[in-house]
Amino acid sequence: MEKRKLRSQAWFGGQDRDGFTHRSWMRNQGFPGDVFDGRPVIGICNTWSELTPCNAHFRELAQRVKNGVWEAGGLPLEFPVTSLGESNMRPTAMLFRNLASMDVEESIRANPIDGVVLMCGCDKTTPSLVMGAASCDVPAIVISGGPMLNGRYRGEVIGSGTAVWRFTDAMRAGKISKQEFMDAESCLSRSPGHCMTMGTASTMACMVEALGLSLPGNAAIPAVDSRRSELAHETGRRIVAMVHEDLRISKILTRKAFQNAIRANAAIGGSTNAVIHLLAFAGRVGVPLTLDDWDRYGRDVRTIVDLQPSGRFLMEEFYYAGGLPAVLSKLAQHGQLDEDALTVNGHTIGENVKDAPNWNTEVIRDYERPLVESGGIAVLRGNLCPDGAVLKPSAASPNLMRHRGRAVVFENIEHYKARIDDPNLAVDETSILVLKNCGPRGYPGMAEVGNMGLPPKLLERGITDMVRISDARMSGTAYGTVVLHVSPEAALGGPLALVEEGDWIELDVEARRLHLDVDEAELARRQAKWIAPEPAFKSGYQSLYVKHVLQADRGADFDFLVGCRGHEIPRESH
Ligand code: FES
Repeated sequence: MEKRKLRSQAWFGGQDRDGFTHRSWMRNQGFPGDVFDGRPVIGICNTWSELTPCNAHFRELAQRVKNGVWEAGGLPLEFPVTSLGESNMRPTAMLFRNLASMDVEESIRANPIDGVVLMCGCDKTTPSLVMGAASCDVPAIVISGGPMLNGRYRGEVIGSGTAVWRFTDAMRAGKISKQEFMDAESCLSRSPGHCMTMGTASTMACMVEALGLSLPGNAAIPAVDSRRSELAHETGRRIVAMVHEDLRISKILTRKAFQNAIRANAAIGGSTNAVIHLLAFAGRVGVPLTLDDWDRYGRDVRTIVDLQPSGRFLMEEFYYAGGLPAVLSKLAQHGQLDEDALTVNGHTIGENVKDAPNWNTEVIRDYERPLVESGGIAVLRGNLCPDGAVLKPSAASPNLMRHRGRAVVFENIEHYKARIDDPNLAVDETSILVLKNCGPRGYPGMAEVGNMGLPPKLLERGITDMVRISDARMSGTAYGTVVLHVSPEAALGGPLALVEEGDWIELDVEARRLHLDVDEAELARRQAKWIAPEPAFKSGYQSLYVKHVLQADRGADFDFLVGCRGHEIPRESH
């Protein structure tokens, strides 16, 4: 078979001034001249940063990847891209997901890269890297950083995020002291790695594995487990072969792959954030995927992974139980996996997970004994959300899935903060908390404030859940009967903007209905009076964001980034 000329040879292959220039400068790093002989050049796209604690161990992990690349006959070249740390970035790391994806896309296209290893970990580092690589359509493989070890506090196992929400509520209700709260700090995050609940980071690691973008088993191996290093080494080996096979990301990210990921999300009780990210992925590769597909493919799937925030365990137990292959194997056995979907190792997903063992049926339950009968993401429609809204049934309270209540309205997050602790707030457990102006444009980045805390006076009475509705997102580690991503958002004049204090709202999850019980004439009157909020930013990146961000039902990508622009070699300029 004739050897295919690789992309990188447009830089390194010439016996002329340009070839000299490209090779000469690279050789200042000590590379012998023969490494530019036409072997695959593998970009190692690293989101290491000390400001992204979940990815702070990535320099060592990158070295493992490089070992594999060298061994397989490739040339590994590591490069940094914008790293989005969920725990530190303000107002929210999501504000920068699309920006980081541009960094990834343009870094790949502008450089002599034939294939890329995407080093993903903290929540937004996974989608930003996948989106960027998808728009270039080069061979790409994900190695995740892996979850932290379980948190442990006073003999109790505690999970990232989920324990923080619980402790915060307990402190606000006066059940634990401030000192007890502070003592839990170092007990929660006690090893390298990302959040170890089934939050957004773990969910996205499962999503890339279900999509076929990583080697089997990638999602669950703890960050500090030596098998994570082994997998990184194997990932380095594999990307070299993928370049030889021209196994580009568009061959992996097919509609079948998305259907598998949606079902996997239902089975694991995954984060609602995955809805937005996967819609954005599909947009980048031109796969027609809609919000309704989430309901269509996820609805009949049972949640069988008993992990926090929906269940009891954490990622460490999930790995010991068999990880995602064990889950996908069960889906396959029940006809809920498209087994033909191709994956990065060159095998189909069905071949990869056939007979994958399950070592702990408490953590990964039998299909006949699910955690939630109908998992998945419920996509709601109605006059309050004409373009859809989502709710995660596995994290919601069964008694609130059908509920009619009066709205307590917060015009924005500041309004919420100013009112929620007021003992005179007219609210009881049957009320519905409505938060406006926290969608993609209203609160640029669509902050994770949808699971707004309950009023202290209800918490003190032992109330732990209420129906909450907003155009915001919610942390993957959060729980509750929370309607999110209401589209169109309030800041665009969507019906959410028209809700007033005391309006009746009806939620019926089974019927997938969210209804504002106000007659149409009254709504038209309110619409006529509605004034769009002033955009918070008139210049800089945030003004670009507000101008170009799409609504949640389209993945909140930028309108000008949707689509695949390929990896055509930019022309030489010197
Ligand atoms: Fe990084 Fe949760 S803060 S994954």
